Amino acid sequence: MGKSKPELQITTVLGIGPVAPGHDLAALINATEISWPDGSTGFSDGDIVVVTSKIVAKAEGRIIIAQSRDAAIDSETVRIVATKVTPRGTTKIVQTQHGLVMAAAGVDASNVEKGQVVLLPIDPDASARELLTQLRDTTGRRLGVIITDTMGRPWRLGVTDVAIGAAGITVLDDHTGRIDGFGHTLELTNIAIADEIAAAADLVKGKIDGSPVAVVRGMGDYVTTEFGPGASVIVRPLDEDLFPLGTAEAIQQGRATAAMNRRTVRDFSDTPIPEDLIARAIAAAITAPAPHHTTPWRFLALRNEPIRQTLLTALRERWIADLQSTDSVAEDSISKRIARGDILYSAPVLVLAFIDLGAGAHQYPDEVRTSAERDMFMVAGGAAVQNLMITLAAEDVGSAWISSTMFCADVVNAVLQLPASYQPLGAIAIGYPATKPKARDVRTPEAFMIPKLN
Ligand SMILES: Cc1cc2nc3c(=O)[nH]c(=O)nc-3n(C[C@H](O)[C@H](O)[C@H](O)COP(=O)(O)O)c2cc1C
Repeated sequence: MGKSKPELQITTVLGIGPVAPGHDLAALINATEISWPDGSTGFSDGDIVVVTSKIVAKAEGRIIIAQSRDAAIDSETVRIVATKVTPRGTTKIVQTQHGLVMAAAGVDASNVEKGQVVLLPIDPDASARELLTQLRDTTGRRLGVIITDTMGRPWRLGVTDVAIGAAGITVLDDHTGRIDGFGHTLELTNIAIADEIAAAADLVKGKIDGSPVAVVRGMGDYVTTEFGPGASVIVRPLDEDLFPLGTAEAIQQGRATAAMNRRTVRDFSDTPIPEDLIARAIAAAITAPAPHHTTPWRFLALRNEPIRQTLLTALRERWIADLQSTDSVAEDSISKRIARGDILYSAPVLVLAFIDLGAGAHQYPDEVRTSAERDMFMVAGGAAVQNLMITLAAEDVGSAWISSTMFCADVVNAVLQLPASYQPLGAIAIGYPATKPKARDVRTPEAFMIPKLN
């Protein structure tokens, strides 16, 4: 298909006149004289009739009063993609029930009587099939029909016409696998031929005092005997869309869900964690709130260094000793419990977090305030660890906050030769999740609210 070099001709269909609800478009088109630059008239096999959606919608009665415009846009909207506030008002880029992503859901006041706006046809492919059937019946010609609308494009100024409905025409011409003039095999070249024909036809239709219908000749290779899939197949499926949201909306959504998307991950893949990722997570951690304008957080990131083994062995020995002597736990259940610490050995990275009480905690003569001051700093440590874990989760890196170092500060500080003012906050095991973390069960904020006293 498309191998022959077409002699392309495009002509306007003059004399359609104003279209109103209930008008028969095929009859209006048939009543006009179609003349071609080469002097011939009428339709030939392979001609493509390109009709602006505005008159299709008008004929279908999709006209509302201008005051209902905002409500109409909302009701035509399936999904808001982006919102832009300008001095002239708010523009919503939305996905319509057709799947089209357009400003104001294609609801438009141009080329309409004052005080009215026109919606898009309900099903432009169905409208195209109906028009094609009538035109083929009355002309006896093998025609194609395209229904067009005008769209802006991301990254490009200006608008162009595209096909929003089609019948009897191949809408996408997939060149994948063909060989170009230089011998290269084309891999991803799928030509939106119906959009190209729509844009070409608009060159002669025009937006001001133009004709709403043009006929394109010379693209007959694309005209099919069947209706074909219609223009709806040109709509990129949402799950294949790299840009399903406006930038501001995507950033906002990421911010709003960042904390909720963190899940404790205890099963990691072997994929190495880049050094700079840990640095970024710690950079976020140290922006946590802290008392007295202090910055008391301290971190030690361990990978495969011998000190990691030394520390974990010392922690394990202390844990076993506690279970045996103080808790009198039986040997078989000791080994089960100890196995819970395996994650500290296997995680690609272990970040030990500390609060240094020597970095600004106030001194008090009494135990109550000393303990409260310590709690305050520990809480600030918790905020930092949470920042770190959220930042990792935002980059699809899993983490688990493991408490064991908090239970034996003396062992940790002795092995790592840290001052006694360092309070361990646990170890954060970090790695890429081996499996996708489960979605959270929904918790309702109300259930966590303390009732107000009267
Ligand atoms: C201070 C602290 C200590 C924790 N210690 C452990 C631990 O020792 N072992 C463990 O498996 N998980 C530990 N966790 C993780 C919790 O078990 C986990 O947050 C909880 O199961 C909820 O899951 P989520 O983080 O995915 O919401 C700890 C969490 C916190 C905040």
